[in-house]
Amino acid sequence: MNLFSPIKIGNYTLRNRIFMAPMTRSRSVQNNVPNALMAKYYEQRASAGLIISEGAQISTEGIGYPYTPGIHTDQQVEGWKRVTQAVHDKGGTIFLQLWHVGRISHSAFHNGKLPVAPSAVKPKGKVYTFEGMKEFETPRALTGEEINKIVKAYANGARNALKAGFDGVEIHSANGYLLDQFLHDGTNTRVDEYGGSIENRSRFLFDVIKAVSAQIGADKTGVRLSPSGTFNGMTDSNPQKHFTYVCEKLNAFNLAYLHIIDALEGDIRHGANVVELSMLRDAYKGILVTNGGYDKKRANAVIENNQADAVAFGVLFLANPDLPERFKTNSGFNEAHRDTFYTQDEKGYTDYPTMQK
Ligand SMILES: Cc1cc2nc3c(=O)[nH]c(=O)nc-3n(C[C@H](O)[C@H](O)[C@H](O)COP(=O)(O)O)c2cc1C
Repeated sequence: MNLFSPIKIGNYTLRNRIFMAPMTRSRSVQNNVPNALMAKYYEQRASAGLIISEGAQISTEGIGYPYTPGIHTDQQVEGWKRVTQAVHDKGGTIFLQLWHVGRISHSAFHNGKLPVAPSAVKPKGKVYTFEGMKEFETPRALTGEEINKIVKAYANGARNALKAGFDGVEIHSANGYLLDQFLHDGTNTRVDEYGGSIENRSRFLFDVIKAVSAQIGADKTGVRLSPSGTFNGMTDSNPQKHFTYVCEKLNAFNLAYLHIIDALEGDIRHGANVVELSMLRDAYKGILVTNGGYDKKRANAVIENNQADAVAFGVLFLANPDLPERFKTNSGFNEAHRDTFYTQDEKGYTDYPTMQK
């Protein structure tokens, strides 16, 4: 078994285990609607076993970055159709990532209204807005009723995703965004049924999974977690215990897959508190996708050793549209240009060459 072994995810048989990790690229310049340029970018990368799209907002409240696409208006659904059609025409499979940023936002995106979160805990640092960098604000804690509305917005996003031609969705519960803010106890100080114990803190995520699965089927639903993540100011008193619990509970949902951002060096590592992939592999019995700083060798090893079933590649796929072919032929790689990760045109987006060029 290696990166090139086919794999079954839900009812789809994928041609390889080289997945494209979700990556925000900020090219939805008009009304958060996907455009032809984005269709070209994803089409170029259709040889992935599975493409997971960049995060797409489930509502205007879920926005935290300029020029990111949504999945809550008819216009956005129409825009995404171009993307899914282009990928399908090349024989690819593509899931949409459902996103709500929670407190990682600013009132500048919301007509002066504060961003929402589990609790009024302010992120450190600054946020990038249309008017430049601004200090984060103290978010407003959601009411139980509002949480139920957001659960419905996730289900609506999933329904829209299928309307737009996606093969499934990935629920973004990682990297310090809304669902992750509920899971980690550093950002969730609630005393109602959504706070306190990990049973309570994970209630929102499980409600979202149930609602999305009821809408489109659990076999088309994936979940992304970052148990060791400290990105966006995440802290947790006992991530090993808490995330093992979450992974065990996820078994009951029969998901398409669970996607784990494995511990990375630097700012998204919990130090001594790191949650080892092997612990999560033991806890979770379904298809496990791993991600985070993998190269071909490490990725093949993790599959051969049965520590994961597939590997998602972020930056390598961003800079190498034909990544599977490069892996196959042991070729070199284009270098990624960080200064164009979030710019608005084709430069550093659709102009990374394939090997043939
Ligand atoms: C430009 C960029 C944008 C990203 N946007 C998202 C995103 O929208 N959703 C998400 O879950 N992760 C996002 N990530 C994280 C990646 O999916 C991935 O976890 C990270 O790049 C580590 O994998 P890698 O070492 O293979 O690049 C982003 C990463 C990059 C570099």
